[in-house]
Formats: sequence, structure tokens, C-alpha cells
Amino acid sequence: MKKRLILFCVLATFQTFIVAQNKVIVNADMGKDVISKHIYGHFAEHLGRCIYDGFYVGEKNTTIPNKDGIRTDIVQALKKLKIPNLRWPGGCFADTYHWKDGIGPKDKRPSMLNVWWGGVTEDNSFGTHDFLNMCEEIGTEPYLAANVGSGTVQELIDWTRYVNFEKGNPMADLRKQNGREKAWNVKLWGVGNEVWGCGGNMKPEYYANVYRQYATFMTGWDNNNKLFRIASGASDDDYNWTEVLMRDIPHNMLEGVAVHHYSVIDWRKKGSDRAFSEQEYFTTMQKALFMDEIVRRHSIVMDKYDPKKKVAMVVDEWGGWYEVEQGTNGAFLYQQNTMRDAMIAGTTLNIFHKYCDRVRIANLAQAINVLQAVILTKGEKMILTPTYHVMEMYNVHQDATNLPLSIQTENYKVGKDSLPAVSVSASRDKEGVVHISLVNINPNKAQDVSVSLRGMLAKAVSGRILTSDKVQDHNTFESPDKVSPKEFKGASLKGEELKVSLPPVSVVVLTLK
Ligand code: AHR
Repeated sequence: MKKRLILFCVLATFQTFIVAQNKVIVNADMGKDVISKHIYGHFAEHLGRCIYDGFYVGEKNTTIPNKDGIRTDIVQALKKLKIPNLRWPGGCFADTYHWKDGIGPKDKRPSMLNVWWGGVTEDNSFGTHDFLNMCEEIGTEPYLAANVGSGTVQELIDWTRYVNFEKGNPMADLRKQNGREKAWNVKLWGVGNEVWGCGGNMKPEYYANVYRQYATFMTGWDNNNKLFRIASGASDDDYNWTEVLMRDIPHNMLEGVAVHHYSVIDWRKKGSDRAFSEQEYFTTMQKALFMDEIVRRHSIVMDKYDPKKKVAMVVDEWGGWYEVEQGTNGAFLYQQNTMRDAMIAGTTLNIFHKYCDRVRIANLAQAINVLQAVILTKGEKMILTPTYHVMEMYNVHQDATNLPLSIQTENYKVGKDSLPAVSVSASRDKEGVVHISLVNINPNKAQDVSVSLRGMLAKAVSGRILTSDKVQDHNTFESPDKVSPKEFKGASLKGEELKVSLPPVSVVVLTLK
């Protein structure tokens, strides 16, 4: 009896070594919804060092290589990232911004105070031409956020005509006078930002009417080119906001409804950007994974009014938000970016893929030197953050078909609370290549994942991994490549079965051919 018990224990222990703790089934021959590339969008606000001393260093008095004042290294890095769209000029700043202040000769442009972000002087040297020309350089679509809170309908009509009308309008003539012959043809337009707060403290019923008024006069540039108008959306889980907008705005004047959700531990005590405890990390991930519920529940509300899913959900602000880096201006929202941010990025993108039938645009906040930035700068130096690397590794999913999958995963536990340790997403691109992205958020334990590939006999698997010893690890100006993607050798194929070994805090993207 004793011998049999010992044998059982040995076998059981052995089994835990060979049986994967996590099981995934990927239906590689199924899938109908496309993961819009636009969920890989970014955001550039006149906030802290995002525009000035970030994207834009000015034409004069700088030794930093630039074209028309825009840093060339940033343009190159964003090209490599394949960013599909860039939202500008805010954020809260958008509802204080008067676009006409930012056109014409730079020395004649008026200055204003940036009241939301530190009361600094905004000299308007970076305006509409600078932004739209920069988008052309990067090869990305501009997404303009219009001023509803303190602007006028006429101001917005004029802006749409200034940037989109080829001729036959005083605004088109003004643009030409200012040196730009061809219209830019901007399609994506936000009608106000966070109008429940910094954008005017409105109630949803009131805003629905305001939106209807503004949207009525926002026309395309010819009969074939309709604008894509995006209503200022809910904060986090305010489902009533979405309900009222979907109910009260006719859908022929509504192309998208926004949602904002940040991963914040506590708005009164956001915690350090890099010296955080495991409990703080866990809470951040709880907040990040809450995105799944937020998107699912807003979708249910939208389905009620729009079962054919014509109106897009636009998550045009998301990311981690911590206390600013010690010694920096509190209003500039500059924070370091660690492996924790890589975990937020990987899991959030997997969530967006899962709901890609509704989520069709999203914007990480923000691109340079603000919040969960993909790039940080210091003088002429520039570093790519762990978040940059995740977004670059993941860009193989852009415009690919989302593959339905099921997952059974171990839990990552801290105290009495637990979260799913592994997050997975899969897609098939236009050439038939399948990509699977996996995230192990557990900082203490590797995860073995067994993936059944249904409907595909893959011949080869290759991959890349982003990982580091500690979840607090990050890149610095002195050590810019501490966290960077490497070749991944932890995956093997046997018939339909794919075995993957994920180290603690890691993001892996596999290619199956
Ligand atoms: O991204 C920073 C700020 O967060 C934006 O300006 C605002 O829209 C949000 O509250």
C-alpha cells in the first residue's frame, strides 16, 4: 500500500511537469472579423513634453536632426511601428484650442496659456500644417479632436473646410495662401473630448443634442468622402453615457462612440512609475484587465441600438497612469515605462482583438514623453520603451482576421485575489500566416501553454519574446536596450499541438506557417 502511494505521488509530480497548466484551442480555419489596424492608434496632446521637446524641436536653435522642426528619429521609429492613426491636439487641451491661432507665419501667431497642463505658455508654433504634414511624413492617418467645449460650430466648419476642401471656399484659399496647395483629406474627427468633464461638464442628454448640431455641419469633401465622426464617450464603466448617445443620436450622423479607460491604482494615490510593489502591480493589472468587461458591456448597450454593428467603439484613450517621475513637473505627466506597461499593452491589445467586431479604433495615451509613452526623449537622446516593443511585435495582427479561440488558464494570485495568468490572441493574415500573441503576467512563475491548432497543419514555428528579470525593469538613456525583443526558442510543434513555455512577465508573438 505504502509502495503504491509513493508510486502515485511520483507519477503525480511527474505529470505536473509534463502536462501544461494552460490550454488553448485556436480555430485556425475559422474567423470572420478583421482586427482593424486602427486599434493600434496613438495620441499626441499639447501636454508636457509630448509636442514641444518631444515630436517638435523647432526649426531653429537645435542640433537635433529634424525636418521642419519634427525630430527625424521619432518619425523613423513611428514608421517602423506602423502607426495607423494619430489623435491630436488633445485630450482636455482640445476643448481650449482655437485652430486659427496655429496657422500662418509663426512669429505672428498669438500665445495662450495651457490651462489644463501646468499653465505654461503655448505659442502655437506647432499647428495644423505642422501636425498634418508630420502625419504624412510618418505615413499615418490624422485624427483631429475638435473643440466643442469652448469653440463654435462655425469654427469647426471652417477647420473641416481648411483641411479638406480642394477649392471653391475661402478656407481652401486661406490654406493655399499659407503654403499648402493640396487638401489633406482628414477623415477621422472627434466631436469634443471628455465632455462629461474637462470638455464642458455636460450631461449625456445635453451633449447628444450638441453633437447633433455640430455633426450636421461637418460634411465630407466630396460626395464620396464622408467624415468619420466620433462622439465623446464614456469614462470607464459609465454605460448610461453610451446608452443615451446611441439612443438620442441618429446613426446616420454617428460613425463612432468613444470610451476612455486608464489603468490607475487609485486616482488619489497612483503609485510610483518604477518603484512599485507586487500588490501595486497586481492592482494595475486588475484595472487593465477590467477593459474586457468595459468593452463587453458597452458593446452590449451598442448592440441594443445597432445590432448590425455599424457604429464603431473607439477607445481613444487607454494605458497605465502613475505618479510622475520624481523631480519632473507634476502637470507634465512624464512617467517611466516598465515591463508592467508591456503587460498592460499585450493584454489590452488581446482584449481589443477579441472584440474587434465592435472596437475598430483605439489610441494609446500618449505617444511621446506622456503617460504610457512608446518613446521617451532627453535632449538629443531617444529611447524605445517596453510598450513600443510590444506594439511593434504585435503589428503583424493589423488588418488580419481574428481567430476564435478558447483558453483555460492558471491563476496569478496575490493574497485572496487572483487574475488569469495567461492571455492569448490569434489571427490569420492575408497570406494565410497565423500569428499567436501570448502574455504571462505572473512575475513569479513560468507558464507552460499547450495550444491545439484546429484546422491547420503548421510546418514551422518561430517567434519573438519581450521579457526581463523583474516587472520593474525598464530602459534608460544610459541603458536603452535592457528590455528589447529577442528570438524566442520556447515553442515546439508536434502535429496539431504547439507547446509554448512562457517565462514570468513575458510577451511572445509566434509565427506559424
Ligand atoms: O491623457 C491625459 C488626459 O486624460 C487627457 O487630456 C484627457 O482626455 C484625459 O482625462
